[in-house]
Amino acid sequence: MSKIKPSKGAPYARILGVGGYRPTRVVPNEVILETIDSSDEWIRSRSGIETRHWASDEETVAAMSIEASGKAIADAGISAEQIGGVIVSTVSHFKQTPAVATEIADKLGTNKAAAFDISAGCAGFGYGLTLAKGMIVEGSAEYVLVIGVERLSDLTDLEDRATAFLFGDGAGAVVVGPSQEPEIGPTIWGSEGDKSETIKQTVPWTDYRDGEVAKFPAITQEGQAVFRWAVFEMAKVAQQALDAAGITADDLDVFIPHQANERIIDSMVKTLKLPEHVTVARDVRTTGNTSAASIPLAMERLLATGEAKSGDTALVIGFGAGLVYAATVVTLP
Ligand SMILES: CC(C)(COP(=O)(O)OP(=O)(O)OC[C@H]1O[C@@H](n2cnc3c(N)ncnc32)[C@H](O)[C@@H]1OP(=O)(O)O)[C@@H](O)C(=O)NCCC(=O)NCCS
Repeated sequence: MSKIKPSKGAPYARILGVGGYRPTRVVPNEVILETIDSSDEWIRSRSGIETRHWASDEETVAAMSIEASGKAIADAGISAEQIGGVIVSTVSHFKQTPAVATEIADKLGTNKAAAFDISAGCAGFGYGLTLAKGMIVEGSAEYVLVIGVERLSDLTDLEDRATAFLFGDGAGAVVVGPSQEPEIGPTIWGSEGDKSETIKQTVPWTDYRDGEVAKFPAITQEGQAVFRWAVFEMAKVAQQALDAAGITADDLDVFIPHQANERIIDSMVKTLKLPEHVTVARDVRTTGNTSAASIPLAMERLLATGEAKSGDTALVIGFGAGLVYAATVVTLP
């Protein structure tokens, strides 16, 4: 028999607060047209994107995260010292080590919270949320900060017609804490590494360092292949998350899919047969694709504008580079 005492956590977990940070600079499609042969009309009709935000030198991954987290902590009504874990999901923090989460945990004023970064592309928020829930229920932290943050403008090839218009910068954060009721459903998540070539960094950093390529690495993708996968496979994953939570589309108040392309969002709404009363996040129009930051940013905006309200039941689903995905049903903070 084991001599180890079992750890004691909360019965369940929930999202207690959300915060977002969008860089000051708003970039309209006209700026994108300076480097690619396209049109405002094409970009809007094929992706839904009208503007995106690009970060300045001062709006670093850490700085944007701290802004978003400060708002999430205030929204949750707790103090930073109560946070026992900081999880940062990003693919665009350019210092390999230490994890940027440690700097954020310190600057926010946590009491030596466990802090680490994860790389799960556009599913990063769902991956972080699932880890946070596990930590709280297992008892290794009472409150966990989950941050999705990207400076994708640093990884965008502005001469690449297939991607130049897609990406944006920003940070979104949530505080996850204990709950007496299940307010975060089971996560349906996974990876399909056989499709890892469909969204990827053009070349490893070392190729650039060694002068094998002249251009700084960027994100490249096979747009149509990713589009088809997202439309056909992700609607199934979203339905599985509803089933796992024991609810139907009729029980939903809000749908917050990864903000990659408005046509993907429309197609998922149709396949899932979401009723009219379900509010659908369309933050992609003015934020572009901010990868790990997209779901918490969209969540924050829906609550700020009053389109969604505290206590609403929301289906969230992230998907992207890997290919990876994560979907779950949550109660909004
Ligand atoms: C990128 C994306 C918007 C492109 O839209 P699309 O409809 O698939 O576009 P295609 O690549 O099939 O190109 C269609 C046509 O538009 C043209 N085109 C491509 N890029 C263009 C641009 N920026 N401006 C104008 N025309 C363009 C193509 O040359 C092609 O022309 P043709 O029909 O004469 O050959 C779309 O594929 C997409 O959103 N994919 C998924 C992206 C995504 O979600 N990624 C992240 C997941 S995390």
